[in-house]
Amino acid sequence: MLSPQSAEVVKATAGVVAENAVTITSRFYPRMFAAHPELLDVFNRADQALGEQPQALAASVVAYAVHLIDPDAPSFDPVLERIAHKHVSLGITAPQYTIVGHHLMQAIGEVLGDAVTPEVAMAWDEVYWLFALQLVAKEAALYTEKGVDPEHPWRQMTITERRDEVQDEIVTFVLTPVDGEPVPAHRAGQYVSVNAHLADGSTQPRQYTVSSGPRPDTLQITVRRVRATADAPAGVVSTHLLDSCPVGTVLEVSVPCGDVVLDDGDAPLVLVSAGVGITPMAAILDDLAERRPARPVILAHADRSAATHALYETTTATASALDQATTHLWYEEVAQDADDRGAHAGLMDLSDLDVPTDAHVFMCGPLPFMRDARRTLIGKGVSPANIRYEVFGPDLWAQNPENAEATAA
Ligand SMILES: Cc1cc2nc3c(=O)[nH]c(=O)nc-3n(C[C@H](O)[C@H](O)[C@H](O)COP(=O)(O)OP(=O)(O)OC[C@H]3O[C@@H](n4cnc5c(N)ncnc54)[C@H](O)[C@@H]3O)c2cc1C
Ligand code: HEM
Repeated sequence: MLSPQSAEVVKATAGVVAENAVTITSRFYPRMFAAHPELLDVFNRADQALGEQPQALAASVVAYAVHLIDPDAPSFDPVLERIAHKHVSLGITAPQYTIVGHHLMQAIGEVLGDAVTPEVAMAWDEVYWLFALQLVAKEAALYTEKGVDPEHPWRQMTITERRDEVQDEIVTFVLTPVDGEPVPAHRAGQYVSVNAHLADGSTQPRQYTVSSGPRPDTLQITVRRVRATADAPAGVVSTHLLDSCPVGTVLEVSVPCGDVVLDDGDAPLVLVSAGVGITPMAAILDDLAERRPARPVILAHADRSAATHALYETTTATASALDQATTHLWYEEVAQDADDRGAHAGLMDLSDLDVPTDAHVFMCGPLPFMRDARRTLIGKGVSPANIRYEVFGPDLWAQNPENAEATAA
């Protein structure tokens, strides 16, 4: 808990810190990277370029401060869980919190100038360390549970199979541990970080969802190529994996992490995905087919066309092994004569779908897509508390109070 003196100061300054939060974190990162260039290989360079990581860090610190001073604030546990799992997948260590804390406080001083009296500095230092200590404790528990030494988070795995899901666009990689030891069982919905060694000598980690149920000897991920556009470069790691990693390549892979996982209950499931967001759904279906084939499932998927729909055959085969599974597809382009999949034309529209009000929902896709789906499902009587989602990037949604309840398990 925040000390009473600090609570008063935080109450009085939360507004000005919130207003300047993104400026503060935008100053913080260059400062920290100048002092610790080794961290450039730990953080996602694209998120830095797009400002998404500064926004995620800033928003989470301000949201944490508000939660400390507002007794009615919603539980912060879901946000802590998400960050801790992400950190563990990257091998973040306790001593690194001192580095981050130091440069964050310096950046606050730099941006807010004279407004940062010693009392203000002390109060925000206290907020930072309360947050940091909760994360360090959670991460320590996860490292212990997973048997991972955070100083050595990467396990070497060989690509033993490559399958084109969509020609030159989406590839499934089957990975086998070099040491011949079993693969740690993941929970359906979890991801691993892949630490890519790039041609320029740098490394960059990225997360990829495990796209099947648990297998004792292998782990599979499915990667979509991020193409260059007029004003954005090609994705660094996806391009590297698709173009420079043939069968036989050894990758550095983390232990499976992630808090958006299939529960063991009996409630009917609704799986809502778009594009490569089908990967967690493929894992969930596979796991259900193996362990709980009687659980009712509705799979709703949107894609550009049949040709871009990854894992279609796999998910269709798995769904048909379940007792009560129905699939609904939406393609933006439906070939007039060629499509025999019964897909609707256009964007996903769940308004005509029969959804049990006690359904548990998993969503994965772009944020606007998930917002629309969530609104429709809530309109049909599904409880917001039963709607979970995975974001393929820093979660800027969770910190938005309007959506905070959506993160609740
Ligand atoms: C939990 C989780 C699970 C995921 N699961 C999957 C999965 O199963 N399959 C999958 O394919 N992906 C998945 N992802 C996404 C994946 O981690 C990567 O984000 C994705 O592969 C893109 O990485 P990249 O290195 O290729 O692109 P990056 O190099 O990271 O680029 C990302 C975007 O930023 C843009 N960009 C970069 N630099 C600039 C700049 N200077 N100016 C303007 N724009 C810029 C790029 O053009 C691109 O559009 C997941 C992500 C998370 C967080
Ligand atoms: C109290 C301290 C910290 C807070 C509040 C914090 C918060 C966050 C948040 C909100 C995210 C985004 C999670 C998501 O994907 O939704 C994140 C990701 C990340 N954090 Fe932290 N973090 C802290 C400390 C650290 C430390 C000490 C390091 C290591 C030096 C670190 C490295 C990272 C990295 C590498 C990511 C992945 C995102 C990216 O690279 O773009 N964090 N953190």
